[in-house]
Amino acid sequence: MVSAAGQEGRASATASPTKAVAADRIVAVSKRATTGDPRYARYLALSDFERAARRYLPKMIFGYVSGAAETGAGKLDSEAAYRELALVPNYLVDVSHRDQSRGLFGKRYASPFGVSPLGGAAIIAYDGDRALARAASAAKVPMILSASSLTRLEDVRGEYPDAWFQAYLPGDPQRIQAMLRRVAAAGFETLVITADTPVPGNRENNLRSGFSMPLRVTPRVAFDAALHPRWLVGTVARTFLKGGVPHFENMDAARGPPMVSQGLVRNMDDRDRLSWEHLAIIRDTWKGKLVIKGLLSSHDVAKARQAGADGVIISNHGGRQLDCTVAPLRVLPEIRAEAKDLTVMIDGGVRRGTDVIKALSLGADFVFIGRPFLYAAAVEGSNGVLHAMTLLRDEIDRDMALLGLRQLETIQPGTVRQMRAAWSD
Ligand SMILES: Cc1cc2nc3c(=O)[nH]c(=O)nc-3n(C[C@H](O)[C@H](O)[C@H](O)COP(=O)(O)O)c2cc1C
Repeated sequence: MVSAAGQEGRASATASPTKAVAADRIVAVSKRATTGDPRYARYLALSDFERAARRYLPKMIFGYVSGAAETGAGKLDSEAAYRELALVPNYLVDVSHRDQSRGLFGKRYASPFGVSPLGGAAIIAYDGDRALARAASAAKVPMILSASSLTRLEDVRGEYPDAWFQAYLPGDPQRIQAMLRRVAAAGFETLVITADTPVPGNRENNLRSGFSMPLRVTPRVAFDAALHPRWLVGTVARTFLKGGVPHFENMDAARGPPMVSQGLVRNMDDRDRLSWEHLAIIRDTWKGKLVIKGLLSSHDVAKARQAGADGVIISNHGGRQLDCTVAPLRVLPEIRAEAKDLTVMIDGGVRRGTDVIKALSLGADFVFIGRPFLYAAAVEGSNGVLHAMTLLRDEIDRDMALLGLRQLETIQPGTVRQMRAAWSD
């Protein structure tokens, strides 16, 4: 049996439960946006957006989002780890007033999930960065803007003042400080440093399909795009007509290269030099909340705590960096125990309300989700993302009732069990 491990850090990360006034308002917004609209009737679960996106997007673009490094083992196991856990409900509890709101870094969010950083979103979905930000703002959940995004970080902050920013920093103090000054000047309060990308992952599927970042327009790429005219017109043509060629706007303090190019490469210099020594500089310079994303070992989480981070996101980058990494959920209990008062968040493979509850039961303070929200943005824009968030929120609400939970903070040790234990002996 797996118990809810390391509860001590959770009290500090989750404020005392209050009546979900904000959540009630969100219900009204999202109902107006999506219910009663027949186009959303076919999306009953997050996986429905993936099916729709597979048809809508060119093969290479869908492959860029869905794909992982090398064999894909890291991605597969991240999802499998959730399926290996079973839930134990408690009945005859008054669950007529349920509250899934969650405190995080001094704010109260309507649900315990948010949007992971997603590079290139604005070429996968029309105005994708803003679409994700708008939906997160309406659903009152956090959204992390990616360093590899194509929309100026200042503009996304204007859209959603509660958005967080994720940086890919080089091991160069001057560039670090210039970038942090820009992010702070834009008003961001939470900075996420992704640690698992000293070099790009080996994504063979992209090489096979002809996809690259920046995108090189080869005959194969053009043919694939021409077979998907809705995306070509609705996303690419619309984007170029509105604002010209999108650029990597947020890789550095200065604007990066255009995303469509014949020869340019993204500036990834010096990322492989970034070390814990730079973390000390970052902590000294950045006055807001500091989160390190991409850690999987309790050793690194202890270092993050010593370096003065406020939180970590346990993540294997959706299996897109090192292949065969341990699934984030599998190391959550040991990391929770090591983290002490550090806020522990997790992403990778979360697809259902029950997955969110499993992660919280094992000690996560908050859960982030990547691909499903990007698929929703691609096929239905910001209202599609809001619909996806509403589906997940409704699943969590129903699951809470069926588990006997009024508040997520009252998840008991023993809510989750390893299924294997039940049938292995
Ligand atoms: C298309 C795509 C782009 C991504 N870009 C970034 C990025 O720029 N920065 C980052 O830290 N993680 C990035 N990630 C990883 C996600 O933030 C997240 O860790 C992962 O997608 C979570 O797994 P899930 O997709 O199974 O929910 C990206 C993932 C995808 C699918």
